[in-house]
Amino acid sequence: MSTDFLPINGTDYIELYVGNAKQASLYYQHCFGFTLAAYAGPETGERNRVSYVLQQGKIRLVLTTSLQPDSPIAAHVHKHGDGVKVLALWVNDATQAFHETTSRGAEGAWSPQKAADEFGHVVTSAIKTYGDTLHVFVERKNYRGIFLPGYRAATSTFVASPVGLKHIDHCVGNVELGQMNRWVNFYETVMGFQLLVTFDDKDISTEYSALMSKVVSNGNGYIKFPINEPAAGKKKSQIEEYLEFHRGAGVQHIAIATDDIVSTVAQLRKNGVEFLHVPETYYDTVMERVGTIQEDLLELKRLNILIDRDEEGYLLQIFTKPVQDRPTLFFEIIERNGAKSFGKGNFKALFESIEREQEARGNL
Ligand code: FE2
Repeated sequence: MSTDFLPINGTDYIELYVGNAKQASLYYQHCFGFTLAAYAGPETGERNRVSYVLQQGKIRLVLTTSLQPDSPIAAHVHKHGDGVKVLALWVNDATQAFHETTSRGAEGAWSPQKAADEFGHVVTSAIKTYGDTLHVFVERKNYRGIFLPGYRAATSTFVASPVGLKHIDHCVGNVELGQMNRWVNFYETVMGFQLLVTFDDKDISTEYSALMSKVVSNGNGYIKFPINEPAAGKKKSQIEEYLEFHRGAGVQHIAIATDDIVSTVAQLRKNGVEFLHVPETYYDTVMERVGTIQEDLLELKRLNILIDRDEEGYLLQIFTKPVQDRPTLFFEIIERNGAKSFGKGNFKALFESIEREQEARGNL
């Protein structure tokens, strides 16, 4: 049994580059129940950008905007729209993580660097993954501050109500046609991840479009990255629509775990979060497929929550509509009751729902 050359403690943070971080920050606080925890900007000596750090459960979301027209942040937003720039990984040794991955072929984005303030020091390093996305390795064992040096503690300007979001379950990347295996190979070779599951176009297809997907996971299973690519179909697939509007590969969705999806989704809906709609007929036959569950089916139907079962248990899930005007990034809310899979039984109903949205946008 080989040792894990890239031990990862979990997701450290997810950073989005956005056009207006001040407003995005309020959106994620008000709609998704995050609490403002830290801030960096001109008031903290940062001349070129502003970042808001939001927290809920173990999840840290960083929203960053450029203060200048000609910065890499502004260029990223210009090209991709609002979207994920960084999937940061919490490690014990960011220097070793950088050397282990770059010596196996990863392209470095920045070498290990130390940043310090009165709360101690942090070491970060970064490598490039699909599209313009980065993995930042964060070593914070010698740090007691709120987030990272350069940030100061901040609080919401209103009483934010958490909705029960606990931790990141998985983060999905969309890559160009023919690139899925290249990126699966990247995670296997460069990061020591293992292939968990494969979905082909027989699993994920509708009358019109199809996609292929493989899921890779790190040694302890805390990090799961499904990678999608489009597959041939009669019409344009949702992955192609994403690639067209995101202008290339990038993070498609972030799945967040809750212990009580019924109360989480009820609150999210009340807060104005929009979800994909699955027809009521879905609920006519779902119980035959999934068997006994603890939740009240009428509640699940009322909230349009989907159900699936595998050998180990069942799961409940729901998907938001895109959270910006481009049909790109969206969120999944998931409650696992033993199941370790990804809702394969719901793919057809879901993708038909996405196609109705695509059709309405004139992109099918
Ligand atoms: Fe997912």
